[in-house]
Amino acid sequence: MPVHEISHPLIRHKLGLMRRADLSTKNFREMAQEVASLLTYEATKDLPMEPYTIQGWCGELAAEKIAGKKITVVPILRAGIGMLDGVLNLIPGARVSAVGIARNEKTLQAQPYLEKLVGQLDQRLALIIDPMLATGGSMLATIDMLKKAGCRSVRALVLVAAPQGIEAVFARYPDVHIYTASIDSHLNENGYIIPGLGDAGDRLFGTR
Ligand code: URA
Repeated sequence: MPVHEISHPLIRHKLGLMRRADLSTKNFREMAQEVASLLTYEATKDLPMEPYTIQGWCGELAAEKIAGKKITVVPILRAGIGMLDGVLNLIPGARVSAVGIARNEKTLQAQPYLEKLVGQLDQRLALIIDPMLATGGSMLATIDMLKKAGCRSVRALVLVAAPQGIEAVFARYPDVHIYTASIDSHLNENGYIIPGLGDAGDRLFGTR
């Protein structure tokens, strides 16, 4: 299963702080962006490169650059915004495709309400960002949207993932790799990840 639980000491340390119920909104926000940067580093480590020639201080020399079109980062509103700067710190030229998904209270299905995708998705790698992969409903709706728009290469970056969400993504999209700081135990009866982080959106926006 293409799930990557990144167990770097910096990630484990920062995630431990984020799990503290007494962490301030400011610090929670900062940690979310920092962990997002570290996940980005891992999720991009196999990007294809191409050679090119540059003028260096002592003449012409061979260098390398990332091949192909720029990446698109896809924050799932609202909580995904809390990871955006962390990704853009490492990939400042990335285009941003904002996606909003709401739950239809009658059907309980995830329904898109905002779809601001960038162009030429067939030539881009999409990095979806959402702090919590719980049931996987929003993630699947976002991948559906991207694939329908022609995107062929999708990766998901989440701070914490539940086994149920990972399995749901893998069942429909076995080609989508998931990068996470932690695979947690389970979902509770309200759909929260245990031990998780609580409501990540509320903690990021200070609305709790
Ligand atoms: N969304 C959250 O913010 N937290 C969870 O635990 C699950 C979904």
